[in-house]
Amino acid sequence: MSLNNKNILLCITGSISCYKSVDLYRRLKKAGANINIIVSASAAKFISPYIFESFGEQVFEDDAFKSPLSHIELSKFADIILIAPATYNTINKIAAGIADTLITLTVAAAPDKPKLLVPAMNPNMYANKILKENIKKLCEFNFSVVSPATGAAACGDYGEGKFPEIDDIIFEVESAFKEKTLKGKKVLVTAGATREYLDPVRFMSNGSSGKMGISLANAALKAGAEVTLIALNIESGGSAKYINGRIKIIKRADFAGLKEALLAEFKKTDILFMAAAVSDYSFKEKSPVKIKKSGISEASGNKSSNDNAASPTLNVELVQNEDLLKTVSGIKRAGQIVFGFAAETDSVIENGRKKLSEKSLDYIFINDVSKDIIGGEENEGFLINKSGEIKSFKRENKEILAEKLIGEVA
Ligand code: CTP
Repeated sequence: MSLNNKNILLCITGSISCYKSVDLYRRLKKAGANINIIVSASAAKFISPYIFESFGEQVFEDDAFKSPLSHIELSKFADIILIAPATYNTINKIAAGIADTLITLTVAAAPDKPKLLVPAMNPNMYANKILKENIKKLCEFNFSVVSPATGAAACGDYGEGKFPEIDDIIFEVESAFKEKTLKGKKVLVTAGATREYLDPVRFMSNGSSGKMGISLANAALKAGAEVTLIALNIESGGSAKYINGRIKIIKRADFAGLKEALLAEFKKTDILFMAAAVSDYSFKEKSPVKIKKSGISEASGNKSSNDNAASPTLNVELVQNEDLLKTVSGIKRAGQIVFGFAAETDSVIENGRKKLSEKSLDYIFINDVSKDIIGGEENEGFLINKSGEIKSFKRENKEILAEKLIGEVA
């Protein structure tokens, strides 16, 4: 669980989106966090503190005078203070140093603790420069912000100011606990599977979901890197995963598109994770129109595995694609790191070593794809570095494995 034993002080202030903090609470709990909750007086008009009490939590209500020392105790409890939703009023008050409620008092008593604001308000209020200036100021003092979503507000106005997706908040909370080992580094990740088109509707591809690459991109972002993801057919595969909005996404479909984007981006990159499943072959000719059944020649003696030896056949020619990892390794600057992957079904380590050396890689992670990992939530395998050292990684969630691989490189 990603937030195991982390102490989170969830502060809920009075926005119409308060009810979403119940889902947020449940997700934090599921991630293993210990939670204390403060519900402000105005938030208590939108949602009853009893909701959280029914989940067995003690809720602190916003009456600092009921228990004069709660703000000190709560500030000591918190590994992080999460204000979600954070209203215009609360953000501006904190920035002005006002401490007149249990939430603002607790924040005042915790200058050294990380604090995460989740602003949620009308788009015009969110665009107000007073708020913007105050958020900027708070970011210099151990605060960070989850940007609101854009959409129609409760009043009907359209713009930025909506309570963000819970996934975005959880991501930033997890991120707050990660060491920024890749700060200042540019990381490029390729993920998904290329599609080589035979005609405008048919293609040759493979079952890679892109999850390992996406997990690496998210993990690199949490480690403080600036991340670019070359995404190959990820959404259309129906197995889309959470990708944080701060990751620059470049969508490409086939080998040629991947090559063009990779060569353009690689120059600006410190570390490349080449997790994409790249087609080793493309069709020699791509028909500009859909290939019809009619007009295909009768089989001339070819044996067919489905006993339809007499059926018409369509012969296509494949040409081998260049190995992109080899190409980028050949042009890499001193200090650039190239991390490749290998999908193997037999002689796993031997084949991995061979690819590491033939492609001049700094690291290779070898997946034993005979073990039903393609497209799944989990992965296992071996990491070999260029000195030949091997580390074995047991089967676990791709997100956790990605964080470990990022840790190795960092
Ligand atoms: N790769 C690449 N260009 C290709 C094929 C693969 O850059 N044309 C990269 C993949 O992204 C991966 C690594 O090479 O990081 C290994 O890919 P894999 O499919 O395991 O092996 P191949 O090198 O294609 O060799 P083979 O299919 O013969 O096992």
